[in-house]
Parts: sequence; C-alpha cells; structure tokens
Amino acid sequence: MAKPAVLLARAVFPEILQLLQEHFDLRHNQADEAWTPQQLAARLQGCTGAFTTGSERIDAALLDACPQLKVCANMAVGFNNFDLKAMTAHGVLGTNTPDVLTETTADFGFALLMATARRISESEHFLRAGRWDRWRYDMFAGAEVHGTTLGILGMGRIGQGIARRGAHGFGMKVVYHNRSRLPPELEADCRATYVGKDELLRTADHLVLVLPYSAESHHAMGAAELALMKPTATLVNIARGGIVDDAALAAALRDKRIAAAGLDVFEGEPKVHPDLLQVPNVVLTPHIASATITTRMAMARLAADNLIGFLVHGKPLTPLNPEVLGGS
Ligand code: GLV
Repeated sequence: MAKPAVLLARAVFPEILQLLQEHFDLRHNQADEAWTPQQLAARLQGCTGAFTTGSERIDAALLDACPQLKVCANMAVGFNNFDLKAMTAHGVLGTNTPDVLTETTADFGFALLMATARRISESEHFLRAGRWDRWRYDMFAGAEVHGTTLGILGMGRIGQGIARRGAHGFGMKVVYHNRSRLPPELEADCRATYVGKDELLRTADHLVLVLPYSAESHHAMGAAELALMKPTATLVNIARGGIVDDAALAAALRDKRIAAAGLDVFEGEPKVHPDLLQVPNVVLTPHIASATITTRMAMARLAADNLIGFLVHGKPLTPLNPEVLGGS
C-alpha cells in the first residue's frame, strides 16, 4: 500500500526526519526556508498530513486550498496558529504536544523571572561594554525574589510548575488567577491562593503570564492592567505575544511604572516592538522557553507519533478536536 504523503514544514532533528520517512512519503524542508502561506499551500498539495510548528498558520484559506489534508501535528503545546474551528469544519484533525515541555518551560519561566528581578542581562551588557570600573553599593540592585509574592495569570500545567518552584524553592507566597479555580488538592500542592485578576495585579511582586492566546486574552495586559501593578513589580511573559500590549509595556518600563519585564514572546514575532529595544529594564529572549535538546526532541517525537498514530493506526495521541475522529 502506498505510504501517505506528509509535509514536514520546518527543519527538525534528523532522527525524527528518519522516523517520518519510515512511515510516510515525506516532503521536507530541512533547509528551513521561510514559506509564505501560498508556498505552504503549494507544498501541501496531495498531502494528507502536515508536521507544523507555531509559525505555520492553518486557517480556512489554506484548508480550502488543500482538500486532501486530514491532520496537522503541531510541535508546540500552544496552537493559536490553528484555526481549530475551521479545521473541525474541514474535518482536519489538529494535535499538539502537551506535558512533555511542562517542567522545562516552568524552569525557563523561573529563570526569566530571576534574570529580570536581578537585572542579569542589563548588568552583563554593562560589563561587556567595559563600563565596570569599581564596586558600588547600589550597582544593579534589583528586586528581592525569595519570600515575595509570586502572581500567576493562567494556572495550567506550566503555571502550576512555576507556582511550585516559587512556593517550595523560594518560599514565595503564590497568588493566581485563571478562568477556573484549581481543585483544592492542586491548590494545596502549589500552595497557591485564587484571587481576582485586579487583586493579582495589585499584589504580585513578580507576575508571570502563562495563559493561552485567544481573542479573549488579546492584550490581557494593556495600559490599564499595567497601571494596577506595583511600581516595584516585574512582569514575565512566556505565554504568547499579543497577550501583552507591547507598546504599552515599553511605555510603562520607560516611565518606571513597573520595575522590569522579561519577555520570551512578542506581538508579531520574530519582530520585536522597537520601543522595547530602547529600554534597558527588559530581558528579551527569542521564544526559547521549551528549548532544551531533551524537551525539543520529546516535542518533535510526540508530533511525529501523532501523525503515525493517526495516519497509520487511526489513533492520534493528543488530539485537539477529537470530534473529527468520529467520521474518519
Ligand atoms: C511554545 O511556545 C509552545 O507552545 O510549545
């Protein structure tokens, strides 16, 4: 029987390429060329499956142009690049990579919090520029982390991982806000207290954003929300660009309305708002929260296993819209 045709839209570990080649008639992009949506649609012609990352937009226009497509396996836990409603309407399954990146991403969230609070990037730039001539009592004095109040907006698995690190490792008081409250045993495990969003913003010394991006969470942190934060507070975004209004954040940082921010994700990335590049009190990283070799390999493997599971065995591992499976 002919192997199903699958497009691997981005470069990936050679081991994963080989695994996919064993099961599929694979077209790949190991040169990691940047494709327009039209080029992506052209390369998907005749393919029943696609291995995507958060950079490939799967929407109604693309689905209309690729009627043979049956499954898109995202190598990411977030899936805001998928128009899931349109995929379901077209009978196309979406899958993501939950769980395998939780602890690694929580590690990074905490690292970014520490770097932001303790001004690690800013002080390194100062040193590298040859400006360090002597010790001074207040040089790069930052914000205390241990024993302070950690606020978490979005308390899914990664938010809980950050809460545990703060509560158990740094003796922090943890407050959180989420669409739904955690069951008592999880709250106890994270030593976290549920509060309203305004209270969260007002009380957090360090606020970490870990909520999914959607129309509802667009600019969940805009000028009005930033204005509620303490002037000494820090803000960390490891969730998605667009949750923070980057222009409003740059203005708040410039005017010292909050102390500092750490951002791994940006509105319109890989572009970064030019005002953010002008302020010193922000740590900027290029969307690397899940980037350890072990975790990226696990994510790639899970995305590949979703394709194999669905196209070869009829059973994906982590479906996002399982309602399409009934008819397949
Ligand atoms: C990364 O941002 C992911 O969603 O996995």
